[in-house]
Amino acid sequence: MRIKTVKSSNWSLRTNKLTFPYVFLICIFFFLAGFFGSTLFSHSQDGDGYGLRPRPRLLDSTKETEYNLMTAGEFGDDSITSIPFQVLSWKPRALYFPNFATAEQCENIVSVAKAGLKPSSLALRKGETTENTKGIRTSSGVFLSASRDKTKTLEAIEEKIARATMIPRSHGEAFNILRYEVGQRYNSHYDAFNPDEYGPQKSQRVASFLLYLTDVEEGGETMFPFENGLNMDGTYGYEDCVGLRVKPRQGDGLLFYSLLPNGTIDQTSLHGSCPVIKGEKWVATKWIRNLDQEDDD
Ligand SMILES: *[C@@H]1O[C@H](CO)[C@@H](O)[C@H](O)[C@H]1NC(C)=O
Repeated sequence: MRIKTVKSSNWSLRTNKLTFPYVFLICIFFFLAGFFGSTLFSHSQDGDGYGLRPRPRLLDSTKETEYNLMTAGEFGDDSITSIPFQVLSWKPRALYFPNFATAEQCENIVSVAKAGLKPSSLALRKGETTENTKGIRTSSGVFLSASRDKTKTLEAIEEKIARATMIPRSHGEAFNILRYEVGQRYNSHYDAFNPDEYGPQKSQRVASFLLYLTDVEEGGETMFPFENGLNMDGTYGYEDCVGLRVKPRQGDGLLFYSLLPNGTIDQTSLHGSCPVIKGEKWVATKWIRNLDQEDDD
């Protein structure tokens, strides 16, 4: 009796020892079979491509797909550039580029510009003098060519602007870095030069790129008072902050075209800087011309 009990408990102990790994292996087998089976199944659906897969899965897999690069030309890229933008308007053609530059890049530009800051001047029309145009543009500024920035930040920004516009860097004027303090403004104006007012032009400004170097607590918006034909009835006073307004945010870019595709001045590209109400506005402006600036002297 005693022996039997021992034997039977021995047996059951041995069975337990055998059973546990056995069940474990079976579990692993079915798990792997299930896993690879489902993988194979989904691959075969990928292959036939006729939508057995529900749509959301298809969208997921599209997102994961790498771009299929083309062979580029001599000065092309071997990678994809992604520069997000929002179309702000078609009249004028204006694009907004969130996070075009980093905070550090903006701070570099401000510190390089601070050294050379002078009151901004105006291109004068027939009959205008520095005296009778006082108050139209009250900011301070400095022209800086990318080569004068030892931090290489302006060079990087210039390169990125050239890519975003596909107008070569050599078509850009030097950066105009501006500071607007509380109350300072720029009345609405055109960046392009109308030959009727300014006389014949050797080259013309095609587009302007503004890079906001600081946040502005209040005011300091870039305004387009004639956006989409608004306020064009002759009553606009050039000081009113109306129409489409773009709030400056550090690192964001704004591109707009002063010329229509047929080369005439876009009347809706009139723009100005609303007065700063609180804080300080720093902006880097790049005027882009139709002619290569390096050929120009
Ligand atoms: C240029 O295009 C604008 C807008 O399409 C048009 O109103 C204007 O007459 C054109 N000017 C010339 C010279 O073609």
